[in-house]
Amino acid sequence: MSRIILIASQKGGVGKSTTAVNISAVLADQGHDVLLVDSDRQASVSEWWAERKLNHPDNPKIACIQKYGEIDDTLVDLGKRYGYVIVDVTGRDSEEMRSAMVVADILLTPVKASQVDINTLPNMCKIIKQSRLINKNLVAYAFLSIAPSNPKINEIEQAKRTILEFPELILLETVVFDRKIYRDCMADGLAVTELKGRADSEVAARKETLALVEEILHGQI
Ligand SMILES: Nc1ncnc2c1ncn2[C@@H]1O[C@H](COP(=O)(O)OP(=O)(O)OP(=O)(O)O)[C@@H](O)[C@H]1O
Ligand SMILES: [Mg+2]
Repeated sequence: MSRIILIASQKGGVGKSTTAVNISAVLADQGHDVLLVDSDRQASVSEWWAERKLNHPDNPKIACIQKYGEIDDTLVDLGKRYGYVIVDVTGRDSEEMRSAMVVADILLTPVKASQVDINTLPNMCKIIKQSRLINKNLVAYAFLSIAPSNPKINEIEQAKRTILEFPELILLETVVFDRKIYRDCMADGLAVTELKGRADSEVAARKETLALVEEILHGQI
C-alpha cells in the first residue's frame, strides 16, 4: 500500500518544492517506486525532474506527472501503483491543496521562522480540521524551513514555541537551514542526499534531509 505525502503551505517560497524533490529522492534511493505529482502550475518540481533526466540519467528513477484541480481521485488511483506519492502544490489555499488533503496520509508543512509565515497557520489548521472530518487519519507535521544559519537561535526557538501552540500540527525536531546547496541542487535536478562531497554544508544538508524523512516515516522507510 502506498503512502500519499502532501507538501503544502499557504505561504509561497517556504521550501515546499525543494522538500518534495529531496524526500522523493531519498525514498527512490531506498528502492521505492516514487511518483511526484506536480500540482503547481509554476512547475518547479517538473523542471527539477526534467533536469534530473538530462543531467543525472543514472540516478534512482522517480516518476512525475502534472495534475491540477480536484486531484483526490487521481491520487488514490495512482497510490495503488506506487510505493509513495509525493504531492507538491502552490503556496496558497487552493483546490489542489484541499482535495489532496482529504486523501493524503501525511501532510508536511514547511514554515519559515517569521511572523508573516506563522500568521498563515491558523487558517491552515482550520483546513486540516475540516479535512479530518473526512480523512480521520491525516497526520500533519510542520517543520522550520530555510532557517537562518547564523546563530539567531531566538528566532528559531520562538517560532518553535508558537507552532507548538497549534494542536493540529506535530512539530518536527528537524530544522532545515538556509543553505545554498539546496538552491544549487534544485536547479541541477539533484537531491542534496545525492551529493558526495565532504564540505560542511553538504554533510549538514544530507543529514537534515535524512532526519526529516526518518521523522515523518518513523524510520519505517
Ligand atoms: N533550505 C534551503 N536553503 C536555501 N534555499 C532554499 C532552501 N529551500 C528552498 N530554497 C530556495 O528557496 C526558494 C523557494 O523554495 P521552493 O521553490 O522550494 O519553495 P516553495 O514553497 O515551493 O515556493 P512556491 O510557493 O513559490 O511554490 C527557491 O529558490 C529554493 O531553491
Ligand atoms: Mg513550489
